[in-house]
Amino acid sequence: MFRRFKDWLARRQAIRDGFLPHPITINGATYSLRRMTEADIPAALDLERAVYGDTPWEKMAFMSELQKKSTALYLVLVVPESGQLAAFIGASFRRLESHITNIAVHPQFQRQGIGRTLMELMLDRSKTMGIQVVSLEVRLDNVHAQSLYRSLGFVDGRVRRNYYTRERADAIDMAVKLSGSTDKAPINDCDHNATV
Ligand SMILES: CC(C)(COP(=O)(O)OP(=O)(O)OC[C@H]1O[C@@H](n2cnc3c(N)ncnc32)[C@H](O)[C@@H]1OP(=O)(O)O)[C@@H](O)C(=O)NCCC(=O)NCCS
Repeated sequence: MFRRFKDWLARRQAIRDGFLPHPITINGATYSLRRMTEADIPAALDLERAVYGDTPWEKMAFMSELQKKSTALYLVLVVPESGQLAAFIGASFRRLESHITNIAVHPQFQRQGIGRTLMELMLDRSKTMGIQVVSLEVRLDNVHAQSLYRSLGFVDGRVRRNYYTRERADAIDMAVKLSGSTDKAPINDCDHNATV
């Protein structure tokens, strides 16, 4: 019991403090990768508008997620010279499952390996934490994103009719089982909200 509690505390601490900002080179370009803060929300909303023409996640959704410092990790990829937000990704972590809650790459930066790199980073992190399954939902008609997820080992789950109520669009669950993950994960402490 004590061991499980210690694991649980260590997990929360790892999520809260374990991500240090660092440069990352993707396809020959170097970016800064760091945790998203509330100051990034306006740029994240602009990025959403550029990608979707809309903001599927409003300011409050980002704010609420960013408060879950010990159970969720939101990262931004920034162009160092200009400070432009090129992409962001978010995930929430439970004992044995992590959930990609959001990912978007600015249209100007798409097809350069950024989406794949950010997904791989979350998969690696999940594996390190002993997580066994990474899941997400994606619009049924978003074949490009699905193609990325399948290439990373995700398989199709059930279809959720009218999951995106505003657009009346269907979603499909996808998940990948992580090989080599250990079963040392601590107790479940996080309710994810699935909105990718
Ligand atoms: C989906 C998304 C995150 C992918 O990011 P990205 O940086 O453009 O993707 P990458 O360059 O890493 O490409 C990875 C793979 O995605 C797939 N893919 C991405 N965009 C594609 C496109 N326009 N056409 C075909 N395949 C595409 C391909 O399988 C690609 O692999 P390949 O280059 O070996 O063919 C990005 O396009 C995006 O933000 N889209 C809009 C928002 C969105 O759909 N988010 C996901 C919600 S679940």
